[in-house]
Amino acid sequence: MNWLVNTLASSIGKKLMMAVTGLFFCSFLSIHLAGNLSLLGGREMFNSYAEHLHAMGVVLTVAEWGMLLFAMVHIITGMTLLVQNRMARPVRYRVNRRAGGRTPGSATMPYTGVLMLCFVVFHLLNFHFVDKSETTIFDIVSAAFGNPNYVVLYVIAIVVTAVHVSHGFWSAIQTVGANHPKYMPAIRGLSILFALTVGIGFGMLPIYVFMAL
Ligand code: HEM
Repeated sequence: MNWLVNTLASSIGKKLMMAVTGLFFCSFLSIHLAGNLSLLGGREMFNSYAEHLHAMGVVLTVAEWGMLLFAMVHIITGMTLLVQNRMARPVRYRVNRRAGGRTPGSATMPYTGVLMLCFVVFHLLNFHFVDKSETTIFDIVSAAFGNPNYVVLYVIAIVVTAVHVSHGFWSAIQTVGANHPKYMPAIRGLSILFALTVGIGFGMLPIYVFMAL
């Protein structure tokens, strides 16, 4: 048991926790996107998707609590690593020595992370923690995306999410062991593909709903 606590407390243990929880959220984003694409099929299809989701009952509740726990681990570990890195190296390198160099994604991870957290809280208050007894989830989503301010805010938040995952996905795959130079271009390509899928897939939904209204 002691070795587990020591491993998780070490720098590599923390990186591993970031990678595992991060990859879990990448899977969540893929499933969430697949479900949300049913918006393109209209009211019946989207409401039926939501009904099927909620019919999972206790499984969904466990998944939601698990997600909250993982989010807390991801955020707290990320902040700890950031503080440790800053303390170990108060003056930053003038030239970035990280493998793969400095990208917009890697340079902005803490900032995009905080913005995503704010977005997710806002998003849940709007779509999750609302009284659905007199309405349907389709009506809630289409009323929100009928407002151009919401559309702009969502598109910005989704671009931020895409930038965060463009580096996060790549970094997590490396941490879990796929860091051989031979695989680098493929992993880099996969990360960009994933970020584009998240950005375009989620980003087109508010615009589509706004224009289709
Ligand atoms: C256009 C884009 C999006 C749409 C239309 C959308 C739609 C929804 C809806 C309708 C729900 C509530 C489901 C329910 O309680 O019945 C939900 C939940 C949620 N969304 Fe989104 N979402 C979008 C983008 C995102 C993004 C980019 C993220 C993460 C960065 C995200 C994270 C979440 C989370 C964590 C939940 C709670 C899941 C649960 O409790 O089961 N969503 N979303």
